[in-house]
Amino acid sequence: MRILLGVSGGIAAYKAVLLLRLLREQGHAVRVIPTRAALEFVGAPTFEALSGEPVSTEVFDDVPGVQHVALGQHADLVIVAPATADLMARAAAGLADDLLTTTLLAARCPVVLAPAMHTEMWDHPATRANVATLRERGVHVIEPASGRLTGKDTGPGRLPDPEEIAREALSLVDPALVEQSLVEPVETPAAAATENLDLAGRRVVVSAGGTREAIDPVRFIGNRSSGRQGVALAQAAAARGAVVTLVAANLAADVTDQVLTGPRPCSVVQVESTAELREAVRAAGAEADVVVMAAAVADFRPAATPDAKIKKVPGQGPAPIQLVENPDILAELAHERLRADQVVVGFAAETGDATGSVLDHGRAKARRKGADLIAVNAVGSGRGFGTESNEVTILDGAGDVVGLASGTKREVADALWDAVAKLLP
Ligand code: CTP
Repeated sequence: MRILLGVSGGIAAYKAVLLLRLLREQGHAVRVIPTRAALEFVGAPTFEALSGEPVSTEVFDDVPGVQHVALGQHADLVIVAPATADLMARAAAGLADDLLTTTLLAARCPVVLAPAMHTEMWDHPATRANVATLRERGVHVIEPASGRLTGKDTGPGRLPDPEEIAREALSLVDPALVEQSLVEPVETPAAAATENLDLAGRRVVVSAGGTREAIDPVRFIGNRSSGRQGVALAQAAAARGAVVTLVAANLAADVTDQVLTGPRPCSVVQVESTAELREAVRAAGAEADVVVMAAAVADFRPAATPDAKIKKVPGQGPAPIQLVENPDILAELAHERLRADQVVVGFAAETGDATGSVLDHGRAKARRKGADLIAVNAVGSGRGFGTESNEVTILDGAGDVVGLASGTKREVADALWDAVAKLLP
C-alpha cells in the first residue's frame, strides 16, 4: 500500500519515526511529509533514511512533478501523526499553505489524523469544532489516548501508540491487513492459531465506571460502580482485535492502567459527569461498530451547581437539593443510531422487588431502551458492584434470552462479545 505519513510539529513527532518503521516493516511504501515545525523535533534525514524516499515540506520543492497534488492523488492512505491543534485548524479551514495541507486537500483516499496536544488544547471549543468539522467531512480522527503528557500533567491528549495508530488506520482500508499485522510480529504460530480475532478491524466504544453529579465544587452524587466489568469488556475486545475507546467515568488509576498498558492498549477518555460521558460516547460512537454502555449513569443531577461551597447554617437544617433528569444515553443511542448497522449494548443492574424478578425488570428495560442486547445482572448483597466475578443473562431487544454467562468479569465480557459478534454485519 502507498501511505503518506504527515507529521506536524509536536513533541510526539518522535513517535512518527516508530510508526514509519512499523509501516515499512509491514511492507508498505511510505512517503513522509513533515511540516516545518515537525522538522524542529525530528530531522529530515531520519525520515528519509527510514522511508527511503525524499522529504519535503514546501509546495515549491519539485515544482515540475506537481507534487502538491500528485502525492495526495496517488496515495492509498494518509495518516497524520501527530496532528497538532494548529494542523487540524488549518485542515478544517481548507488552508493550503504547505505541502502537507495541500496534500490533504488533494487526497481522495482515507485520511486518518492522530491528534496529540495538551488536554486544555484538545478540550478547547475551537479544537472540538475543528475535529467535528473534519469528522463530518469523513476524516477519521482517532481519539487521543489518556496518560502522561509532556509536562507533569496527565489527561486525554497523548498520541496513541504507533501500533494502535497503524491498526486503526489500516483497518479503514482493509481489515485483513490488520489481522496479518496483529498476528505476525507478536504471536507464536501456535498462539496465533488459537487466537480469536473476530473483532479485528471493528471500532468499539465501552463506557465504564460511575458518573458523578456535582452538588457544589466539593460534593457530588455518585454510585458504587468500580468500572471493572467495563474495563474487562474493553480488554476483551482489544484482545479480539478491535480498536477500543474506553470512556472512563471516575475509575481508580490502577483500573484505568489495565487498559493503557499491555500488548493492545485502548484509548481512554476520562469523564466525570453524565453530560461529559454523553458527549464523549457520542463523539467516539459516531464511527463505532459497537457501543457498550457499561457505565452506571446517574439518572438525576442537581438542577443548579453553585460556584461556591454550600455552607451549613446552624439550626436551619439541610437545604433541599432539587434534581432534574439526565438524558438516557443508551436509549438515545439505540433510537438514533449514530451509524448504520451499529450494535448498541446496555446493562441492567437489578435487585428484583415486589413488582417483579431481576429478569422481569431486565426484560422491561430491554424493550424500553431499544438496545440490541441488554446484559442483566443481579446486584445487592455483595453481588455485582465492586466484586471480581459477575453473572449475567443476555437478552435481545425483545427481551428474549440469547445467552448466559458467569465467572470472572473477563469471562462474562467474552460471552457478551460472542453475542455481539453474531449481530455484526
Ligand atoms: N443508562 C444511560 N443513561 C442514563 C441511565 C442509564 O445510558 N441516564 C444506561 C446504563 O449505562 C445501562 C442502562 O442504561 O447500560 C441501564 O441503566 P439503569 O440505571 O439500570 O437503567 P434506568 O433506565 O436508570 O432504570 P432504573 O434506574 O429505573 O432501573
